[in-house]
Amino acid sequence: MKKVITYGTFDLFHQGHYNILKRAKTLGDYLIVGVTGENYDAERGKLSVQDSLPERIENVRKTGFADQIIVEEYDGQKINDIISYGVDTLVLGLDWKGKFDHLKKYCDVVYLERTKNISSTQLRQEKNTIFNYGIVTDNILENDFIFDAEYVSGIHIESIYSQDERISKTICENLHISYEFNDYKQFLSTVDIVYVGCKLEDRYEYIKEALINGKHVISDSPMSLDTQKVEKLYALADEHKLILLDNIPTVYVKTFNQLLSIANSHVIGEIVNVKCSLPLEELSMYYPRSTYDAMYFIICILTKILGRDYQKALMKTIKNNDKIIYQKIEFDYENSVAYGELTQSIQSDSHMELVGTNGRIVVPNLWWNANYFKVITNDTNNVRRYSTNFEGNGFRYLMQVMMQMIKDKKIESLRLSGNDSVEIIKLLTKI
Ligand code: CTP
Repeated sequence: MKKVITYGTFDLFHQGHYNILKRAKTLGDYLIVGVTGENYDAERGKLSVQDSLPERIENVRKTGFADQIIVEEYDGQKINDIISYGVDTLVLGLDWKGKFDHLKKYCDVVYLERTKNISSTQLRQEKNTIFNYGIVTDNILENDFIFDAEYVSGIHIESIYSQDERISKTICENLHISYEFNDYKQFLSTVDIVYVGCKLEDRYEYIKEALINGKHVISDSPMSLDTQKVEKLYALADEHKLILLDNIPTVYVKTFNQLLSIANSHVIGEIVNVKCSLPLEELSMYYPRSTYDAMYFIICILTKILGRDYQKALMKTIKNNDKIIYQKIEFDYENSVAYGELTQSIQSDSHMELVGTNGRIVVPNLWWNANYFKVITNDTNNVRRYSTNFEGNGFRYLMQVMMQMIKDKKIESLRLSGNDSVEIIKLLTKI
């Protein structure tokens, strides 16, 4: 019996899917169809899938071509499937041409012509309201997040605004974005969601104008160092029923939230100590950050882990030739201590560690963007490893949450609320 296998997401099942399954079936006697699992899609950054896994499986089943349906759950599963099911032929659409040639040593690999003029992406675009997304920037280089938004369903990157014409022009040309503006009001009239990614002094006015004009906003943080101003922004957002979010992708990434749950569930006992290091130069590769931004970020993360019931917060700054090279922020709680170190132009690691009465949680390099951590418990000396792949710098996961909030008509993020932001700024300005 000749076995054929093919894979796909099969979202919003369409004629192209039907055709490829039909043709795949004719290439053998027994057809296995691998449908991508929800976690696998999320991990590979495909955040736009509309149908649930059971719906997608049911649609494949209804064609009557599949003799067996399996779920594709991880990278590299194809080899295992081919070996364990004794597959003779792997079938894929021509959009994958060449990508699976390395599997030719296990079975035949056949790429079939795609059906013209149809795709799940196209159907999703027709079905959904598309939100136009605009970017305020003063940085010609750090624009990776622009690409990241493209993976989220329902978002179209429409316009760029910069005070500096040279910056907006260059970004638009390089990234093929439709419109560039140097007039903020005009820019606002073209978009539904604004990302404010510019220097601290300018953020407040841009956010305020955007909210007054009815736009949802994501902003680099802090939005201002004036607590009253930030309170005013959240009040404005509330009044206009708009979403206002800090650009802190880490708190939207699955690995970090898994770490929080494990820390809070006493797996490592009572937390005694949390420490993290952040070399500013390395952080800047992920988000454009000044010292204030990085401090805000550290406070946000430490207080997410241990809460805001600290008794004392201290800050220590060390300079070399008038240049800040080291800053440490420390929180003393009744029975624990948390501290974060921010370094500039000196060597340091980029780890995070949580020490508890019964073990440790260790996040290795680049903890703010890590997809991996380990939990080591004392009693069993057991090491558990947790990993979830995610793509990009995490911005797309933040955007995805925002899109869900828009759909659900919610304006407060459970991950990082307006109140959280205001409290962080109060503390940041106090110390
Ligand atoms: N396929 C096809 N013709 C189309 C669309 C898809 O032959 N017009 C094939 C793909 O090549 C793949 C299988 O159907 O082998 C499942 O594809 P999938 O990625 O689920 O569908 P797409 O419509 O390509 O989805 P998306 O737009 O999200 O990439």
